[in-house]
This record gives sequence, structure tokens and C-alpha cells, in this order.
Amino acid sequence: MDIFQSPSGDEGERKPAEDDTILAVTGVERSFVANGARLDVLKGINLTLRRKQLVMLRGRSGSGKTTLLNLIGGLDVPDRGSIVFSGKPLHEWNDEQRTEVRRKEIGFIFQSFALLPLLSAYENVELSLRLAGAPRATWKERAEFCLELVGLRRRMFHRPFELSGGEQQRVAIAKAIAHRPPLLLADEPTAELDSQMGAQIMTVFRHVMETEQMTICMTTHDPTIMEVADHVFEMADGKFVSA
Ligand SMILES: Nc1ncnc2c1ncn2[C@@H]1O[C@H](COP(=O)(O)OP(=O)(O)O)[C@@H](O)[C@H]1O
Ligand SMILES: [Mg+2]
Repeated sequence: MDIFQSPSGDEGERKPAEDDTILAVTGVERSFVANGARLDVLKGINLTLRRKQLVMLRGRSGSGKTTLLNLIGGLDVPDRGSIVFSGKPLHEWNDEQRTEVRRKEIGFIFQSFALLPLLSAYENVELSLRLAGAPRATWKERAEFCLELVGLRRRMFHRPFELSGGEQQRVAIAKAIAHRPPLLLADEPTAELDSQMGAQIMTVFRHVMETEQMTICMTTHDPTIMEVADHVFEMADGKFVSA
């Protein structure tokens, strides 16, 4: 269980971590107010993600998986605790700063694919290179490489509606990794797919992780999918319990 790490005692001056930690979540709490009642969703989460790991968060619907993923990806900030991504304290940064980090260094994949319907697979992937500010001269080669990586190069001029759900999700993966983020976050990426397509997506994830040396953190509630994880964290009552 090397991933459950308490914050290391800093001796002397604080230096960038020499180890391969990419993300450190420490003591994170998050509550919401709904219908006048306070809901404590995360009650003290500690999590360390290292380079080149495939980590899964599991837990019942409503257990806080999406809330945690949004915090890790800088879409939201915690009420308490810290989130340090590649040495950057996301919990202290404003929206603009976090958006910048997200565009350049984090890839996001959602349950519902989130592709732009009027753009081809290729154009969808190219768009994330534009948004990340990648040099124009690199777009074509990189977009084609990523589509090849997910096995869709031959279909790159198709629009989302001309592709199956599994293919659309593979385009979404190509789009999410195009700007070479060291961290890829995926919220129930297989939930809308049948089990065969879900298994294919997991094969693509492992391939991407190896080829691009990425860390992938995803949520799921499918036990067969969890088998390919390096680590599984189970969320219950706002905390991690041993999975
Ligand atoms: N912005 C919000 N405002 C109010 N309640 C929220 C908000 N986001 C999430 N919640 C509540 O927090 C709980 C956890 O949600 P979520 O993180 O989406 O769980 P999961 O992804 O594990 O299904 C749910 O009860 C949900 O209704
Ligand atoms: Mg969710």
C-alpha cells in the first residue's frame, strides 16, 4: 500500500519531490449545501498518484468519486486540505490558473464522450492541441499518432455520429492525450459501453499508459474492469476504505 502516504516530514527547505509522485491529495474535505442541508461528501481524502500508474476509484453512486476527480483536475477546489499536482498547489490557485494547468497538463475523459459533433475525429483531436497552445506545425503528426494509438487512424475523418460508442470513446481518449498530459482523468469512461467495448477501452488505456508514460486515474463500478488496475481505492462515507 505504498500509495497511501502521509505527507512526508519536510526537513529544511522544501525542494521539488525527487520521487515519481505526480499528484498528492492531503486531508481533502468538500461539502455542498443542497436544499438548506449541508452534505459532507469528502471527509479527509489522502491519495498519492505516481508516474505510470493506472488507478481506479470505486464506490457507490453518490459516494463522491466525481467530486474527487473534479478536485484532482482543478475543476473545483477543496474546503480543506491540499492538492499538489506536479509541484503546483491547485487548492491555492484561482480559476484561471487552474484552467491553464488543465489545458496543458491534464487530460479529461467523461462518461458521455464529450466530442464536438460537427468536427471529425481528427479535428476533435487537433482542437485540444490548439487549446494547449502546441505549435501548429506539430498538430498533424501528433493528432494522427494519437488516433493511431487508439486504433482509429483509418476512421479519422468520420464525425462522432458515424462512429460506435466505443469508437467515440477512443476518439475522446486520443483527444484527451494529444497535448501529452502526464495525468489522464476519466470519469466512468466505460459506463455507457457494453462489456466488450469496455474491455477494449481498458486495453487502450494500458497501451496509452505504456506508450506515453502517463498516469491514469479513473472511476468505475465495474468489477471486471478493476482487474486491470494497479491500485483500486474504494470510497465509502467520504473516505477511502481498504478495497
Ligand atoms: N455541486 C453540487 N452541489 C450539491 N451537491 C452536490 C454537488 N456535486 C455533488 N453533489 C452531491 O455530492 C454527492 C456525491 O456526488 P458525486 O461526487 O457525483 O458521486 P459519485 O460520482 O460517486 O456518484 C452526491 O450526493 C451529490 O448529489
Ligand atoms: Mg460520478
